[in-house]
Amino acid sequence: MKSLINEYDEITAGCAPKRLHVITFGCQMNEYDSQKMAQMLMGRYCLTPYPEEADLIIVNTCSIREKAEHKLYSLLGRLRKFKDSKPDMKIAVAGCVAQQLGGRLIEKMPCVDLVIGPQGLYRLPELLERIETDGGVVATELDDQFKIPYIEAPLPRKGDVRGFVTIMQGCDNFCTYCIVPYVRGRETSRPSRHILKEIGFLVDQGVKDVTLLGQNVNSYGKGLVDEVDFPGLLERIDHAFPDIRLRFTTSHPKDLSDKLIDCFGRLKTLCEHLHLPVQSGSDKILKRMNRHYTRQEYLEKVDRLRKACPTITITTDLIVGFPGEEDQDFKDTLSLLETVRFDQAFAFKYSERPGTAATRFKDKVQEEVKSQRLKTLLELQNQIGFEQYRKMENKVCKVLVETFDKGKLTARTRGNHVVNLEGDADLVGRLINVYIERACHHSLVGRIVH
Ligand code: SAH
Ligand code: SF4
Ligand code: F3S
Repeated sequence: MKSLINEYDEITAGCAPKRLHVITFGCQMNEYDSQKMAQMLMGRYCLTPYPEEADLIIVNTCSIREKAEHKLYSLLGRLRKFKDSKPDMKIAVAGCVAQQLGGRLIEKMPCVDLVIGPQGLYRLPELLERIETDGGVVATELDDQFKIPYIEAPLPRKGDVRGFVTIMQGCDNFCTYCIVPYVRGRETSRPSRHILKEIGFLVDQGVKDVTLLGQNVNSYGKGLVDEVDFPGLLERIDHAFPDIRLRFTTSHPKDLSDKLIDCFGRLKTLCEHLHLPVQSGSDKILKRMNRHYTRQEYLEKVDRLRKACPTITITTDLIVGFPGEEDQDFKDTLSLLETVRFDQAFAFKYSERPGTAATRFKDKVQEEVKSQRLKTLLELQNQIGFEQYRKMENKVCKVLVETFDKGKLTARTRGNHVVNLEGDADLVGRLINVYIERACHHSLVGRIVH
């Protein structure tokens, strides 16, 4: 859970009549959406870190795994108390749980004034006016032809080195475990001119490391007329902003083309890191997940990537305990980890999501088995990841310094390793050479090379 407040220091102090408090759960796209909502309300609201003094609270929700609704209800229970002592306060619930529950949310939690889905958020100012007259408003229609509007209002940021730009929203892949296509709707790509304009804006604000966001960025451009594909978009950005570091997430292995692979090592701005969720190492499970690639195809893509760019860092997502996963399937996942040797992996126990195809599979895996498999997998991956990170030891690498706190700096390599070191605040935003003294499990410790 995150509060937007740190990112908007400069608009917090009494510059607008009303106060806004935003709470965000979920992925980077949700964080981006929260920023967009704050951006749309700028001038009318200023941000406050204190929910109790807010005129409007927005809770931007995530429903990717279990307990999402439960967490939301208990949070709303707490927020309702603030509303009891400040009756003019409005509460809006946005994001993926809002989309999933729609009007049921207001029925269950009458303290909620507005339920707003990931497409509806662009109508936030108008919807806020409507709640004044109509009471509880629900805006969760999903339009197959939806286009992400460009918001002209500037986004104030204070000294952030990293910036994020959503390039596409929604997903058409329907992996059988996943709720995203149901709550985010059909894939829709933003025109490249909007993306370039937004990156330009971030760069003007001092951003030096830009991550392009989407559920499946590799299929960027689908449905746009006279537009570039994803490698074409990367090329345009590389050409227009030659001094940034460029990254993207997430890539679906089935859509990782040779053309995209060739961008690594060829485009100067594109950093040597790819997050390529594999989910499972078993063909039987991959098929049931509707992933449209085999273990062998995945391994071949990894080989091609490493040939094109030998220094590339590869990270992944995995699910254990998907229905029908037997011991042998799980062993196949472990052996895939040993073969690929990911630098980092995010692993999750399968969690049944309402309305998804996998709810119909009968051969569910018991909770204790899922927990045991997750533990075994994490132990193996921690060891592999540590060995991968240790390869960085005693090397000098160029890092971009991101933050300063009490004499300590955090920085990032192009390969996405976080490096902790000591140094002065004026190094934030600068590229410096560091000597890597030692590896920890998910980070490195270095010192500045003068
Ligand atoms: N679009 C991205 C994934 C977004 S969700 C992609 O296709 O790679 C992030 C991760 O959450 C997924 O990669 C998956 O590992 C995990 N996840 C999604 N649905 C899940 C579920 N029902 N149970 C457990 N993990 C899930
Ligand atoms: Fe979910 Fe699959 Fe789409 Fe990723 S590609 S968001 S896992 S349906
Ligand atoms: Fe969660 Fe929705 Fe993102 S379900 S992971 S906030 S797309």
